[in-house]
Amino acid sequence: MRKLCVALSAVVLAAIFWVGAGPVWSQVPKDFKYEETKPMGPVTFSHKIHVTDKKLQCPDCHTKIFEMKKVAAPKMTMKVLNEGEFCGKCHNGGKAFSTKEAKDCSKCHAKK
Ligand code: HEC
Ligand code: HEC
Ligand code: HEC
Repeated sequence: MRKLCVALSAVVLAAIFWVGAGPVWSQVPKDFKYEETKPMGPVTFSHKIHVTDKKLQCPDCHTKIFEMKKVAAPKMTMKVLNEGEFCGKCHNGGKAFSTKEAKDCSKCHAKK
């Protein structure tokens, strides 16, 4: 019984700590990859770089440009990005490096 109490209070403390660290929705998601990039290498999207390092706010992208779930991939082609949609809303040589510059392809696409 005593052991159970100790275990339960540990769970409760962990829960309080977790909430204290910030509600789940305000936490920055992990990096993820887009893989429909042949013959180029996959593209990693990093919330950490955009939000923590470059100081963008969630509403800069959500939900005007992107849903808060991974649904854009089938619609995201280089043609669409170059026309200024999705990543291309910023990656147009204005707010951020352009999707059209040959020297910058490898900033998004991993080398194979
Ligand atoms: C520079 C743009 C940008 C900013 C700023 C940004 N996000 Fe995102 N977020 C994305 C993209 C891109 C996706 C994936 C969308 C897709 O593939 O359809 C995404 C997806 C997500 C997802 C779903 C992840 C998954 O694995 O399904 C969550 C949750 C999310 N963002 C939360 C946030 C929160 C919270 C913030 C602010 C702290 C934030 N985002 C800021 C671009 C951004
Ligand atoms: C801002 C990041 C970014 C830059 C810069 C970029 N791309 Fe992409 N590229 C993407 C994303 C995102 C996709 C879509 C991946 C998906 O939907 O799975 C993509 C897809 C592709 C594809 C797959 C076929 C297609 O047309 O969609 C090719 C080929 C490609 N890129 C070539 C290039 C070349 C060449 C350059 C440089 C001139 C470049 N990309 C620059 C992000 C970028
Ligand atoms: C709301 C504007 C915005 C959107 C949308 C956006 N980015 Fe960015 N991104 C930035 C800014 C600003 C920087 C930093 C400035 C620069 O490097 O030119 C950046 C930097 C980057 C970098 C360079 C990271 C480094 O190592 O320095 C990569 C890679 C990148 N973005 C990929 C993407 C991809 C892929 C998407 C779409 C899935 C995307 N971005 C959508 C604004 C945006």
